[in-house]
Amino acid sequence: MSTPGALLKVAGLSVSYGRIEAVRGIDLEVGAGEFVGIIGSNGAGKTSALRAIAGVLAPAAGTVTFDGQALTGLPSHAIVGRGLAMVPEGRLIFADQTVEDNLELGAYTRVGKDDAGVRQDMDRVLGLFPRLRERYAQLAGSLSGGEQQMLAIARGLLSRPKLLVVDELSLGLAPKILETLFPVLVDLNRQGLSILLVEQMASYALQVTRRTYVMENGRILMHGPSAELAGDQRVLDAYLGRQGRH
Ligand SMILES: Nc1ncnc2c1ncn2[C@@H]1O[C@H](COP(=O)(O)OP(=O)(O)O)[C@@H](O)[C@H]1O
Ligand SMILES: [Mg+2]
Repeated sequence: MSTPGALLKVAGLSVSYGRIEAVRGIDLEVGAGEFVGIIGSNGAGKTSALRAIAGVLAPAAGTVTFDGQALTGLPSHAIVGRGLAMVPEGRLIFADQTVEDNLELGAYTRVGKDDAGVRQDMDRVLGLFPRLRERYAQLAGSLSGGEQQMLAIARGLLSRPKLLVVDELSLGLAPKILETLFPVLVDLNRQGLSILLVEQMASYALQVTRRTYVMENGRILMHGPSAELAGDQRVLDAYLGRQGRH
């Protein structure tokens, strides 16, 4: 089952909060250069799985291997240093700090060691999101929801990740903003960045990703090529609502 070239390999991962078993032994992989999605209802365990992968919380069981090395037990900052960056659910930007300060926090492992590289990367991510360049000196709290999501993505990119993990890109955002955000992820993936995207808006996720895992009640219910799942009756019924039906 295992892909020798897998960048991220999660095996038997479980997460519990006291007696609540949020994630119940999931296996998943992201190949180098792949764009992979996880869809599933609210409470399915998606965020818990991502937080365990990123080292934000300790799993009850299972292993996480990244770029050939075990991540299990490493603190989250060490995991960022290995090349796995997470854009967390709800963005978690620092509202009372400027856009510039928030971006510098994303590069904190390199500030002082590679300042020229950081400046270059800063310029590159601001090129992806011109609206952030216009608002560079403003407090992050004054940005719109869409701009805050751009900032959260840009901050993640500044750690120079091999894998960008995005939890609920669309949360609270208008379709018009999403039409600018999803293509940025698609472009980044085309440039070689591996992406794992958790998304409640399954219709968007299935369009941009190559493979998708469907998660329910802490388990992977099914997985396969996104184009196939987009036509699967169970997926249509459960996640695509009326829009997906003929
Ligand atoms: N900090 C927490 N403490 C206790 N239970 C939690 C906590 N975070 C999430 N849960 C529970 O774990 C389950 C999975 O939640 P979550 O991982 O947030 O799912 P999803 O991201 O798919 O919506 C839910 O039943 C949720 O109520
Ligand atoms: Mg979630």
